Amino acid sequence: ASVRHYTFVVEDTPYTRLCSTKNILTVNGQFPGPTLYVSKGDTIIVDVYNKANYNITIHWHGVKQPRNPWSDGPEYITQCPIRSGERFRQKIILSDEEGTLWWHAHSDWSRATVHGAVVIYPNHNKGSGYPFPKPHADVPIIFSEWWKKDIVEVYNEFRRTGADPNISDAYTINGQPGHLYPCSKSDTYKLTVDQGKTYLLRLINAAVEDILFFAIANHQLTVVGTDGSYTKPFKTDYITISPGQTIDVLLETNQPPSRYYMAAKVYSSAEGVKFDNTTTTALLQYNIGNNSTTPPSNPPLPYLPFYNDTKASVNFTGKLRSLANEDHPIHVPVNISSKLIFTVSVNTLPCANDSCLGPKGSRLSASLNNISFSLPSTDILKAYYNNISGVYGSQFPSKPPLVFNFTAENLPTYLNTPKKGTEVRVVEYNSTVEIVLQGTNLLAGTDHPMHLHGYSFYVVGWGFGNFDKEKDPLGYNLVDPPRQNTIAVPKNGWAAIRFKANNPGVWFMHCHLDRHQTWGMDMAFIVKNGQGPDAQMLPPPSDMPPC
Ligand code: C2O
Ligand code: CU
Repeated sequence: ASVRHYTFVVEDTPYTRLCSTKNILTVNGQFPGPTLYVSKGDTIIVDVYNKANYNITIHWHGVKQPRNPWSDGPEYITQCPIRSGERFRQKIILSDEEGTLWWHAHSDWSRATVHGAVVIYPNHNKGSGYPFPKPHADVPIIFSEWWKKDIVEVYNEFRRTGADPNISDAYTINGQPGHLYPCSKSDTYKLTVDQGKTYLLRLINAAVEDILFFAIANHQLTVVGTDGSYTKPFKTDYITISPGQTIDVLLETNQPPSRYYMAAKVYSSAEGVKFDNTTTTALLQYNIGNNSTTPPSNPPLPYLPFYNDTKASVNFTGKLRSLANEDHPIHVPVNISSKLIFTVSVNTLPCANDSCLGPKGSRLSASLNNISFSLPSTDILKAYYNNISGVYGSQFPSKPPLVFNFTAENLPTYLNTPKKGTEVRVVEYNSTVEIVLQGTNLLAGTDHPMHLHGYSFYVVGWGFGNFDKEKDPLGYNLVDPPRQNTIAVPKNGWAAIRFKANNPGVWFMHCHLDRHQTWGMDMAFIVKNGQGPDAQMLPPPSDMPPC
């Protein structure tokens, strides 16, 4: 394992998309930001310089940061933001992650443009190091969104009105909207390939608000990994990918040398929402030999499921299984010390003078167990480490879990009006945790991509309707459940995850749809230190940004 050094300069950079130019926040002037190429077990040192007029933090999504929450990055959870003109050195310690992860800003909605791929190669001691033949090349494919307006304006308006945010003007693949959007003929990402090879596409959903479908015309994809862990390989015509999630696929270039479109399109389980204009395209261009005919200028688009095709979405997601072989063993906790149920819902808060634009003059809000999380003004990690009181409460969940009937139409108001709070759950070192994430059909029911920092968890089960604590556990997969850091909790359904709390620190858990995260669909775990030096949090670096 080696130590690798990077410099990230956060700055405003002009970019033109959809025929209009604006300044966006970038790292090193790039959109998407730089890709980090590292190997399993490496340590990455990143010097982040903030040259923008905006507070920012950088998060390493899916990296466990063993014993080192100081470099995790979520604003006001593990650090205070890096202020304009300041620098912060982050030390990213890789452990068992292998495959694709990513990094992104973790302050307000700046991650819309501040994000990039982390490619983690295997240790090449054994054969190719991969559990499949070594691919010819690696290609990060990042899905994202573009607003014509300044993202800070979009965010501020969203905060002010208490209503749903303005939807983006385009989806993008590696920063390009593609030919279906107005004024974007030349703004199409192009991947040039040789025929008869295997490419490893590292798909990352960096979109702010939506789950996506993705496919390539005339080509099947072989799924081999997700969220920095290998999966049992399977072939598929399309994939479903949640914001926050990564999926590694092998692409065999086994078609006639020509041009083919790849496309990503919104999947939404929300009702009554019409989705237009949400397909982004990129080109797969074969290198054409001398005696080939000229490729078509209008190649076919791939078939993608309809925007609200829940069956298609879960059909794909339900196929993910850990590779779980001798070289890549898994350790699913079996005896559980903490069984938790979190209800996940969107709801409303009353608004002074009915001036808000949410339903019936309310503000939209979101919660876990009816607590709508508020960010503190000093970070929770510092408060915990230095025993500063009054920053957070440890009452999560505050009562026996609130059990919503997902079919109930008229819930009592108290169940539909969350309390605001900064509540954490404290767990013992090495305890085993199971969380059942229970979706509800309160306002704007939709799938919620829930993401946990500091850990990978095993998705042992999921289903529709209310979780049945007698029956549903009988169907758990404890043999080869997928290992993920983000799980889409199905609308009106549930998902059960397990992890062993062997990483001391403060770890955020939240919905990876930014509007829900901002509305309060968040909580944090505090995992206590264990016995002995290897079970203790590392000390803070001396340059932690002050609040
Ligand atoms: Cu990818 Cu807390 O986030
Ligand atoms: Cu959500």
